[in-house]
Amino acid sequence: MKITLSDKFLRPFVAEHEEEYMQPFASVAYDLLKSGKGQGNDFHGWVNLPVDYDRDEFKRIKAASEKIKKNSDILVVIGIGGSYLGARAAIEFVKSPLYNNLKKDTPDIYFAGNNISTTALTELLSICEGKDISINVISKSGTTTEPAIAFRVFKSLLVEKYGLEGAKDRIFVTTDKARGTLKKFSDEAGYETFVVPDDVGGRYSVLTVVGLLPIACAGIDIDELMAGAADAREALSTPSIKENPALRYAVIRNVLKRKGKTTEILVGYEPYMLMLSEWWKQLYGESSGKDTKGLFPASVIFSTDLHSLGQYIQEGQRTMFETVISVKDSGAKFVIPNDPENVDGLNFISGKELDYVNKTAMTATLLAHNDGGVPNIVIELADRSARSLGELVYFFEFACAMSGYLLGVNPFDQPGVEAYKKNMFALLGKPGYEDRKIELEARIDK
Ligand code: PA5
Repeated sequence: MKITLSDKFLRPFVAEHEEEYMQPFASVAYDLLKSGKGQGNDFHGWVNLPVDYDRDEFKRIKAASEKIKKNSDILVVIGIGGSYLGARAAIEFVKSPLYNNLKKDTPDIYFAGNNISTTALTELLSICEGKDISINVISKSGTTTEPAIAFRVFKSLLVEKYGLEGAKDRIFVTTDKARGTLKKFSDEAGYETFVVPDDVGGRYSVLTVVGLLPIACAGIDIDELMAGAADAREALSTPSIKENPALRYAVIRNVLKRKGKTTEILVGYEPYMLMLSEWWKQLYGESSGKDTKGLFPASVIFSTDLHSLGQYIQEGQRTMFETVISVKDSGAKFVIPNDPENVDGLNFISGKELDYVNKTAMTATLLAHNDGGVPNIVIELADRSARSLGELVYFFEFACAMSGYLLGVNPFDQPGVEAYKKNMFALLGKPGYEDRKIELEARIDK
């Protein structure tokens, strides 16, 4: 595994001995995962996924992606939360946040069903006009409101455009094998279906068909992605925090939380990390924000956000620490031109690579934030290849599980997500929610 964790900007906020004191607890957390005895052990499927996945289904994923690439201008990926964030993060990280605008021989990819916005839906429908479309609806439960509404809309669009038979070739359904009605309905309708493993929860599912089909459609090598995750799985097979950087990251987060650092900010210096940060926020937020515990996961993209949130991070409440993802080689090169008039006074950097300036901004910010009392963990990544991303995904998933066990929560459930749904169903008049509706309306009218 090429990922490394640097503590250069963490000392003196966390002393070496503070990490060492945590080793016995880290060993227990590691054992809870490895022995399968920890809370939420029915959702440990992601642990061995990089080496133990359904090879036949993998072939079907590749075949489906080839078909979509051949017959579609646009792939609409319908899903919310763990059912879309990983794929979107991977496409933006490995390809580009401007993926749809790039010259390419793969379809444009749009994400729908991750909000209830009329504007977003109608704009996407108008983008789809006159284009050949396929859809991949992804919902483990098959009953989540946001993607279910979008699926209704795009399913009828496809049936209208291609007829019942033609639509069958263009609708790909990723769902649970038994629960809910989506699988049964899709089998009956003749849509190609893919199964989300029972023991992998939504936010840990990017390396299943949930993430892999859209990622493959973007022309990303999914074998390499899995190989990177397998490298990380191998490298993280030790309870020693000196040798296991993901376990060490979990330990450091825990130490910082005990010191009153209640917010962790994930920092990227590249716009292609924006959706990766969204994926990370869901992973860490849903896994540890429960029982009134957990760090609040926030994110920024620098240097952009140095001009918005930089002031707060430098001098606001001292309750945060930063985790910086530094990508050594972003793959692109650009040299800053000379300006004979030197209007901006910047000729001292003309001839230098833009990435050198970006990396210097990073070092300058690390030093400044340290001076402002903000501890910084730096995670170094070799490049933005599929393999490196596979490593990073597994690194964060592993560290997230360890963080949950260190904190004393179940990192694999999300009971709090139901609260808004129940209220929304009651207020919308769903049968069975009549009493709650009366109670809520009385509160609203008060
Ligand atoms: O991580 C999770 O479990 C959630 O974010 C789910 O992925 C999300 O709520 C969507 O659920 P479903 O795939 O059942 O539609």
